[in-house]
Amino acid sequence: MIYDIITDYLPPRLGLLFFTMSKRKILVTSALPYANGPIHLGHLVEYIQTDIWVRFQKQRGQECWYVCADDTHGTPIMLKANDEGISPEALIARVAKEHLADFVEFGVAFDNYHSTHSEENKLFSTYIYEKLRDAGHINSRSITQAFDPVKEMFLPDRFIKGECPKCGTADQYGDSCEACGATYSPTDLKNAVSALSGEKPITKESVHYFFNLANFSEMLRTWTAEGHLQAEVTNKLNEWLEHGLQEWDISRDAPYFGFEIPDAPGKYFYVWLDAPIGYMASFKNLCNKQGLDFDSFWAKDSSAELYHFIGKDIIYFHALFWPAMLDGAGFRTPSAIFAHGFLTVNGEKMSKSRGTFIKARTYLDHLNPEYLRYYFAAKLNAGVDDIDLNFEDFTQRVNSDLVGKIVNIASRSSGFIQKRFSGLLAKTCSEPELFQYFVTHQATIAEHYEQREYGKAMREIMALADKANQYIDDKKPWLIAKEPDRDQELQEVCSMALNLFRLLIVYLKPVIPSLATQAEQFLNIPTQPWPEQASPLVNHAIKPFVPLMTRVEAEKIEAIVLASKENLQATAPIVKAKQFEPIASTIEYDDFAKLDLRIAKIIKAEHVDGAEKLLKLTVDIGDETRSIFAGIKSAYAPEDLEGRLTLVIANLAPRKMRFGLSEGMVLAAGPGGKDIWVLSPDNGAVAGMRVK
Ligand code: 2FM
Ligand code: ZN
Repeated sequence: MIYDIITDYLPPRLGLLFFTMSKRKILVTSALPYANGPIHLGHLVEYIQTDIWVRFQKQRGQECWYVCADDTHGTPIMLKANDEGISPEALIARVAKEHLADFVEFGVAFDNYHSTHSEENKLFSTYIYEKLRDAGHINSRSITQAFDPVKEMFLPDRFIKGECPKCGTADQYGDSCEACGATYSPTDLKNAVSALSGEKPITKESVHYFFNLANFSEMLRTWTAEGHLQAEVTNKLNEWLEHGLQEWDISRDAPYFGFEIPDAPGKYFYVWLDAPIGYMASFKNLCNKQGLDFDSFWAKDSSAELYHFIGKDIIYFHALFWPAMLDGAGFRTPSAIFAHGFLTVNGEKMSKSRGTFIKARTYLDHLNPEYLRYYFAAKLNAGVDDIDLNFEDFTQRVNSDLVGKIVNIASRSSGFIQKRFSGLLAKTCSEPELFQYFVTHQATIAEHYEQREYGKAMREIMALADKANQYIDDKKPWLIAKEPDRDQELQEVCSMALNLFRLLIVYLKPVIPSLATQAEQFLNIPTQPWPEQASPLVNHAIKPFVPLMTRVEAEKIEAIVLASKENLQATAPIVKAKQFEPIASTIEYDDFAKLDLRIAKIIKAEHVDGAEKLLKLTVDIGDETRSIFAGIKSAYAPEDLEGRLTLVIANLAPRKMRFGLSEGMVLAAGPGGKDIWVLSPDNGAVAGMRVK
């Protein structure tokens, strides 16, 4: 079919020209979030980016479906459930509810939200595996891996800790060193222990199954050159292709939470094998509910479009493994993969100690989700660069654009229409050219949305909003209103402004759907399609104006940051309690009496290379000096501490930390961050005094 030739060989962008004539069939996905943690603002960049695109397609009248699911399998989920004393099924059911509640409140409108732990996914995973196996793309062989003899399980790299083979730093994970950045294999670690049991891992052999990706080198080379990927991503892929593709280990041994491999008892599909298949499974689940034709989206000869929005960290899985798996199993490949960058907050990596690792729920407790949708839209483009959430810029931009420019047009004009004309707009449009000027911009704005250049779309819309406000400023309805014989003019000017407001709202509808719906109710109009053609509202009754959006208050952001720090404070002791002993609810006096609480003089305080939170203190406890690492860097500079007296527990067993031996504990109190105070004795205390 000519149609297939066009879509197969032209970049998606050019392909679109051919689609505009008839309704497009589009299936869109966002990456499936892991079911072992909450949604945070970093995740939301992608869901908001995708949701805007999908809403735009739907508004344009395309048949567009947006599916997602929780990514539920793998060792971390199994272990987390174990830690909580619940089954993995119970954990993933709870997390799915939490995820979905967050998405709904952020206006992320999936057509279906499913789970990778589903019948459909098991079916497709098995089917794809068997197809690949039968076509000779799966090999098996025995490999040697680290094994925890206490927990009786093979250990993923992240669950092995030890000293870095390069720099010797203790307590490093099995794949890379946080101190020197070296990457290595877990068998290279010195004095390695299992992070689960603390026991020295043994090595053990087991048979693993591999997907022979190299069989698809040619197919992937062709696919990569066909314009399904952003330029930066294509370059990366070419590098990988040049280096040669490695086989991919797709199996894991029991115990593992996942799907058992059909012909290999005790072996499970690695989570990343069945995760992308979860896209299909969720869509299949939707097809069953809605009576859609699955094959017309996924069959090899499908003319539907298939887009995956993902973060740049998972390109390898989506642009190499996934198309190869699909092709090998006889399905169509994606029309495009749209990768985006990471989120930074105030120019830095999101940080729990700074309170910038913000959960979706924490944000929702304080601020309107559409502020963030708009802000992300204003910052997003089609590239893979990171985007920054700067709190000051966020406040300023939302207040000035959405409240100051957009909502203001309606609030300035609606009062007169309501009070003086009983809510009725003028009989004619007084400035048809101006109205038309706003309508003609639909084409460029639509093209920006289509190309995921949301920042450009927002700038274009705000330039129109400036024009609408300028129109009101020029006409000065507040002065016209004072002259009784200029009633008609007053009605016409305010009606014109409201008609422009309507178009601006229609353009912003994919980004701020809830505000748009409220505006439609106020304007007394149905849900607005994309205005390829539009005529002004005339002789039309609107409803009384209700405030559509209030300004961002800086205190709310402070509250979010504080609450995000509190999250950390609240969770830290629980994590610790799990790692060591359960915390007893009371202790006996004898237990308390065992503490050697001493006044100590801080002789020296130093930064510790590579430590985010720690200071190294040298303290005089009367009869000796000790080195103690204290997590108080967020609150004190070393020079503020030198010479001060504080309280320490002197008989705490020395603890080997990543940075050295800690010989005691400094006592401090406070909610965290800058608000931590080392406890100071009253006057008269001297180093070495026992306290009690
Ligand atoms: O990186 C992640 O968070 C994965 N859970 C994404 C999976 S996307 C898809 F392949 F399922
Ligand atoms: Zn190192």
